[in-house]
Amino acid sequence: MKTIVSVIGTRPQFIKVAPIAYSLHKRYHHILIHTGQHYDYQMSRTFFKELDIPKPEKNLGIASTLHGEQTGRMLIRLEQVLLKEKPNLVIIYGDTNSTLAGALAASKLHIPVAHIEAGMRSYNKMMPEEQNRIIADHLSDICFCSSSISANNLRKENIKRNIYIVGDVMLDTLRYAVKKTRNDAAFLKSHKLALRGYILVTVHRAGNVDHKERLASIVNALNQCNKKVVFPVHPRTRNNLKKFKLLPRLHKRNILLLEPVSYMNMLKLEKSAEMILTDSGGVQKEAYFLKTPCVTLREETEWVETVKNGWNTLVGTNTKTIVKIISGLKKPSHYLPLYGNGKASAKITNVINRFL
Ligand code: UD1
Ligand code: UDP
Repeated sequence: MKTIVSVIGTRPQFIKVAPIAYSLHKRYHHILIHTGQHYDYQMSRTFFKELDIPKPEKNLGIASTLHGEQTGRMLIRLEQVLLKEKPNLVIIYGDTNSTLAGALAASKLHIPVAHIEAGMRSYNKMMPEEQNRIIADHLSDICFCSSSISANNLRKENIKRNIYIVGDVMLDTLRYAVKKTRNDAAFLKSHKLALRGYILVTVHRAGNVDHKERLASIVNALNQCNKKVVFPVHPRTRNNLKKFKLLPRLHKRNILLLEPVSYMNMLKLEKSAEMILTDSGGVQKEAYFLKTPCVTLREETEWVETVKNGWNTLVGTNTKTIVKIISGLKKPSHYLPLYGNGKASAKITNVINRFL
């Protein structure tokens, strides 16, 4: 039996690997290597439990530190694992430091690399994610794209071979989870939330939350909008809200601060929100899948199709602009399935079968 290693390490990667793990296990020895980049229960274990993802063969326990050190330590440990396991293929997901380390470790050992969610570009090289995904794409032997726009981005960079538009694996996971979840109403009720009676907020991009002025500007917008706000707070954001002494400004009656919520609960919150305010890539997409209008706290996005189709509005972080856009946001009347049909993992497995 051939061996495939998936390198994962962060919250969105656990969600992306789930349907791939279901699909590969019948035919391959599929080994999950967790770098340990995310480690809190609510940022890691919960996803394995809820989504029935097999336990990783190894957790490298790298955890949080500076980017260079974190990526370097992952590279050292991944090289050892890959030398031992000798996989026929390494799969990497998205654009985190774990993605970059996986791409480097495998390609230096001449092990073929497949990149899921390839070709995404913000054209903002200040973002660590943009740096990671450019290198990951250029080192990959197979690029799996969520849409034709990302495939074209690769071609513009002269990556021409083994590009497959397969749709988005996060839609596969969402479909699987929606079938498993019940009791949306009970969950909303437990938090005293009415259907379409709140805005769901997530924010964690370094470019937004590591800068006091930008984070304060977002906090002020949440204060000034006259809607109920539900805000599951990412650990990076919580640390910075504390550091910049902004947390007291969020202790308002209309703002519900939560620890990061489980995936199933997140879907319930996304599905029933009036709108979503976010800087997350995955949440922008899920808003689209669930037909909840999205306002993105960035100047640019990789998920440009959602903006072109009217379901996503880029607002940046200016308080006045955010408040104005939120108060006038309308739900578009048309909808196109932009990211496939929820069967991306089957298409990916077929390509891998042919490749190996
Ligand atoms: C990382 C990814 C980002 C992705 C995000 C998903 C990089 C460069 N960034 O950002 O692309 O969108 O994950 O959520 O790879 N922390 C905890 N507990 C945890 C994890 C993190 O407390 O389980 C805190 C630590 O203080 C850490 C900070 O959060 O320093 C940031 O974590 P890190 O993994 O470095 O980056 P993210 O912001 O999570
Ligand atoms: N998510 C979650 N709980 C939360 C916030 C997000 O389960 O409290 C899920 C969300 O549904 C999506 C993924 O995490 O599937 C997005 O991850 P994140 O925003 O951390 O990273 P990004 O997608 O921006 O890389």
